[in-house]
Amino acid sequence: MSYQVTFYGHGTFGVKIDEYQLLIDPFLTGNPSTKISPDDVNPDYVLITHGHGDHVGDAVEIIKRTGAKAIANAEVAKWLAQQSGGEVHAQHIGGGYHHPFGYLKLTQAVHGSSLPDGTYGGMPAGLLITTPTGEKLYFAGDTGLFASMALIGEEGIDLAALPIGDNYTMGPDDALRAVKLIQPKIVIPAHYSTWPLIEQDPDAWKARVEAETNARVRIMSPDTTLEF
Ligand code: NI
Ligand code: MN
Repeated sequence: MSYQVTFYGHGTFGVKIDEYQLLIDPFLTGNPSTKISPDDVNPDYVLITHGHGDHVGDAVEIIKRTGAKAIANAEVAKWLAQQSGGEVHAQHIGGGYHHPFGYLKLTQAVHGSSLPDGTYGGMPAGLLITTPTGEKLYFAGDTGLFASMALIGEEGIDLAALPIGDNYTMGPDDALRAVKLIQPKIVIPAHYSTWPLIEQDPDAWKARVEAETNARVRIMSPDTTLEF
């Protein structure tokens, strides 16, 4: 089976698995990297890693318009249900569930998670998706480096999307160390160069990662799609 990954810049991804369209952290309005507007996307599921505005983004509006089911930690899921009136599925760190698109586990992330209106958003998460045919896709969300990334790597990661922007998340040095812990086959750098504060050179990072690990780095231009 194949799957498709679309990058909208920053931490926003689309994933298509079978007939299911997933949208991760739908930050479109105000995202200088994408030309896509919230009206352009039609997800079946909206997955949110944590409550920050550059991750919740346009989720409420998209859920209201499309009827997409939202999946997030219990605190963010409750907030999304209150804001949108839509259907949500709450999970929490370490817990997995068999959704129609695959098995989704929320993983540890070292970060914050307050929601845009100040509501407590629980613990931030990463997303580990196992497709129906066994491919493992890890979207780290916003996180610093943590040693138990090695435990995520033990699952056998096919594709990892990791932040490299520094300041708010791992920078290039720690993201390289993360690749060594996770040992994914493919890495997509994310959460960089959206603003000057997190400007990074992804080509330089790719060269270092590919020199020091067996992972291949796929640098995605915003609003492009890769098929795997
Ligand atoms: Ni954040
Ligand atoms: Mn962020």
